[in-house]
Amino acid sequence: MLFKKDLISIADLSLGEINEIFDLALKLKKGILRGSPLTKKTLCLIFQKPSNRTRVSFTVGMTQLGGHAICLGPEEIKMGVRESSKDVARVISRYADGIVARTFKHKDIIEIARSASIPVINGLSNFLHPCQGLSDLFTIKEKAGNLKTIKVSYVGDGNNVLHSLMLACSKLGLNLSIATPKGYGPKKEITKQAISFAKKSKGKIEFFDKPGDAVKGADFVYTDVWTSMGKEGEYERRKKIFKPFQLNSRLLNKTGKKSFAMHCLPAHRGDEITDQVMDSKQSIVYDQAENRLHVEKAILVLLLG
Ligand code: CP
Ligand code: NVA
Repeated sequence: MLFKKDLISIADLSLGEINEIFDLALKLKKGILRGSPLTKKTLCLIFQKPSNRTRVSFTVGMTQLGGHAICLGPEEIKMGVRESSKDVARVISRYADGIVARTFKHKDIIEIARSASIPVINGLSNFLHPCQGLSDLFTIKEKAGNLKTIKVSYVGDGNNVLHSLMLACSKLGLNLSIATPKGYGPKKEITKQAISFAKKSKGKIEFFDKPGDAVKGADFVYTDVWTSMGKEGEYERRKKIFKPFQLNSRLLNKTGKKSFAMHCLPAHRGDEITDQVMDSKQSIVYDQAENRLHVEKAILVLLLG
């Protein structure tokens, strides 16, 4: 198997590896693959920030695969305060078979991966959220049937979720149109990577100032919170700046087709997305959440199996 030891960024995955994850995830979801491939294996989850989906889906995934998971919240091991992330990674490597880590700084997840002798999975950093990006593309494929002629539009903050979406779409050859307020766009480094992947995959990445222009013709319209974890102090300022970028029925209608609405969750209803959109038939936000489980189980089997 060609699989690497860690999953830190979608940029590190080949097209073959992404498809391998999707094929296995589909088999696991359909119940074609059963059994307990991770019997007696332990996954250790380390969180510097809160989590519902990442924590629960990985924990349930380990149980379903015959293994076990230990969750360590921000107060439990105080990574970076009580001891360095390097020491945490080295010690956990002596006990467990895999690590999922959610950190503030991206350099911490890299440090953990470098120091651990077991596979390390990025469970979100301020820079990237690869498990979300992979699950989202799996969901898009499930709904659309194919990926090549699909247009995805993202409106809102140029954050970790957008970065991973850009890498996933560009690797898989989708057309992605992005609208972010001035000064809140994606990082140049990611834009550069995504443009080069898109060239190879014959995908397209486009940037717009106005959300209405970005969503024209989109099959999927995606948004995420305006204020990510760790930036809570900026909430009031951001709320004003991002208001025109709200995913509401008016914006969704501007696609000109019956498009799907996406959100990685947790959502701030009434801010970046309205109740009406979240609770509509076009909303696939809970399918996205469910698919975290199937895709992460595939990742676990490939990395820990
Ligand atoms: N989407 C996501 O990662 O959710 P949590 O922050 O609840 O894990
Ligand atoms: N951008 C959000 C995603 C949460 C899953 C954050 O980092 O808080």
